Amino acid sequence: MSNETPTSVRRVLAPEYGGPDVLRVVEEDVVHPGPGQVMIAVRAAGVNPADYKGFSGQRSADPDALPIRPGYEIAGTVLALGADTELASGGGAVGDPVIAFRVSGGYASVLTVPAKDVFAKPDALDFPAAANLLLAGTTAADMLHAVDAQDGETLLVHGASGAVGVSLLQQARRRGMRVIGTAAERNFDMVRRFGGEPVAYGAGLEQRVRDAAPDGVDAAFDCVGTDEAVDVSLALVPKERVVTIAAFQRSQQDGIRVVGGGMPESAAFRDRVRADLIALAASGHLVVPVARTYPLDRGADALTFLADGHPGGKLALLP
Ligand SMILES: NC(=O)c1ccc[n+]([C@@H]2O[C@H](COP(=O)([O-])OP(=O)(O)OC[C@H]3O[C@@H](n4cnc5c(N)ncnc54)[C@H](OP(=O)(O)O)[C@@H]3O)[C@@H](O)[C@H]2O)c1
Repeated sequence: MSNETPTSVRRVLAPEYGGPDVLRVVEEDVVHPGPGQVMIAVRAAGVNPADYKGFSGQRSADPDALPIRPGYEIAGTVLALGADTELASGGGAVGDPVIAFRVSGGYASVLTVPAKDVFAKPDALDFPAAANLLLAGTTAADMLHAVDAQDGETLLVHGASGAVGVSLLQQARRRGMRVIGTAAERNFDMVRRFGGEPVAYGAGLEQRVRDAAPDGVDAAFDCVGTDEAVDVSLALVPKERVVTIAAFQRSQQDGIRVVGGGMPESAAFRDRVRADLIALAASGHLVVPVARTYPLDRGADALTFLADGHPGGKLALLP
């Protein structure tokens, strides 16, 4: 245990359901790590749309689940390890830079988590980028797996400039796939930077994709959730090869694949690919563009900005 171990934690939580303005910063006692646990000084907490969806009440408004502690991923340094405990990536000592995913309550200055979810941080990523690598990265890997994407295929990615989209672009390009990605025009360069071919979403999208890929598209990935994304995908690709992470109602109605971190098969797959994605980032082949950072007590501002739907990169909270 470090001599600098704090006695209290600053944590962001939602005591009730609602918009970002329900978030409060509270002081709590630190939780000392037992066997199989690691205490981490959080240097950056990754910010994801799932964070605001969790306390918005859209998914569930169960009063027994309150307060909600947002934050599924963090990067920081080890403050203490439980007895006989190693990180998921092996070894581990006080002061080591690490990534933890999937955790709960990541919007905090200190977090104690299961060691099986803690990995050495690759030097190639700074703390804000590392804190945002794995939720989007494992989701993109899960989507590729769900439709059995094959090397050399042509893919359509809706929302290619978003966090999941940018990770998908990079993972697909590594495997020699061609990716046509939808984005707002101001983000076309971002799509190109990660190896995609940008097309604008909006009226006429189907024809623009047909023009870009006259031989057809093999699989479609919806990282947006709009009817347009689902309709255009279904017009171009058999439904078995369309996957969404956001159009849950349409997935039931139209029989397209859906993946989510709360689904057991997805969760198990995502856990298995964490180390591979970290290795990819360590070798410089998986980059996480960070648009903005905020102090921990401005979590509400970060989530308000993210909820607008066009962040242009990831956001991180810095305790
Ligand atoms: N099921 C899961 O496991 C899972 C996991 C992660 C995320 N998600 C969900 O997937 C979605 C994307 O997450 P993210 O982290 O990638 O979000 P993000 O970084 O905020 O990206 C949002 C993307 O949506 C695009 N967009 C916004 N409005 C659009 C429209 N009308 N038509 C087409 N594209 C539009 C934006 O493009 P421009 O900025 O270029 O306009 C941007 O690329 C969210 O709904 C999130 O909750 C689900």
